[in-house]
Amino acid sequence: MPTSEPLVRFERVGKRYAGAVEALNNISFTVDAGDFAFVVGPSGSGKSTLIRLLLRDEQPTSGRVYVTGANLARVQRGAVPGFRRRMGVVFQDFKLLPALTVQENVAFALRVHGIHRRSVIQERVAAVLDLVGIGDKAGRLPDTLSGGEQQRVSIARALVTGPELLLADEPTGNLDPVTALGIMELFVRINEYGMTVLVATHNREVVDLYRRRVLQLAAGRLVRDERAARYDEARPAFPAPAVGVPAQPALVAAGAA
Ligand SMILES: Nc1ncnc2c1ncn2[C@@H]1O[C@H](COP(=O)(O)OP(=O)(O)OP(=O)(O)O)[C@@H](O)[C@H]1O
Ligand SMILES: [Mg+2]
Repeated sequence: MPTSEPLVRFERVGKRYAGAVEALNNISFTVDAGDFAFVVGPSGSGKSTLIRLLLRDEQPTSGRVYVTGANLARVQRGAVPGFRRRMGVVFQDFKLLPALTVQENVAFALRVHGIHRRSVIQERVAAVLDLVGIGDKAGRLPDTLSGGEQQRVSIARALVTGPELLLADEPTGNLDPVTALGIMELFVRINEYGMTVLVATHNREVVDLYRRRVLQLAAGRLVRDERAARYDEARPAFPAPAVGVPAQPALVAAGAA
């Protein structure tokens, strides 16, 4: 059903934890269905808090968080599991169940949401493992997989319930740079299939590579919301050097020596 309501709306959201830490301060933004945004900012700037508010793990101290027009503060306790099903979430540390195989880890998410028919589970799990590129590892235990493969399992688990929004909190934080790129490539591809994706990250390289929307936090404030952006705000260029000064070649020569 087409709707003009954005998928996510933060309306002057503040979050003050016990101990008076103001983790978010008067944050407003919207995310449309199909969008892809990176949430960036230094440690402690409020990225995880923003994600926890969306998951309804925390409540805002002021302002409102809406998902498809519904004020999360108004969602009754009994309706929270149904609401959660609309969001898939991926964390830095994978959070896989070590005694369960890859296929069982992903199937578990379906069972939690009340889907028990074996044929449905088998079909959905196989499809989503193929999608993330580990269809051949369904029978393996998590600790026999590489970090990148484990993160693919957790992405499969986040997607298998058919969410509307995929959230990731520092999903490449435990991965080497090459593996991290493979994981971020997967998020971008999932977005190209139509999924709305929000990724909190410190990973400057991937943000600069993909040039998507950047929501930048600093000390709990939203200081930038820019499309097709880099990790750092574009700054005005330094004053042009005097004509004829060969700055770069000289530096390269010095660095190579
Ligand atoms: N449960 C909590 N109780 C009290 N203060 C908290 C709690 N969680 C986070 N904070 C504080 O809120 C601020 C924002 O934390 P948050 O975890 O959202 O930052 P972050 O941007 O995700 O940082 P990082 O990049 O290190 O993960 C920090 O000052 C943090 O210490
Ligand atoms: Mg965090």
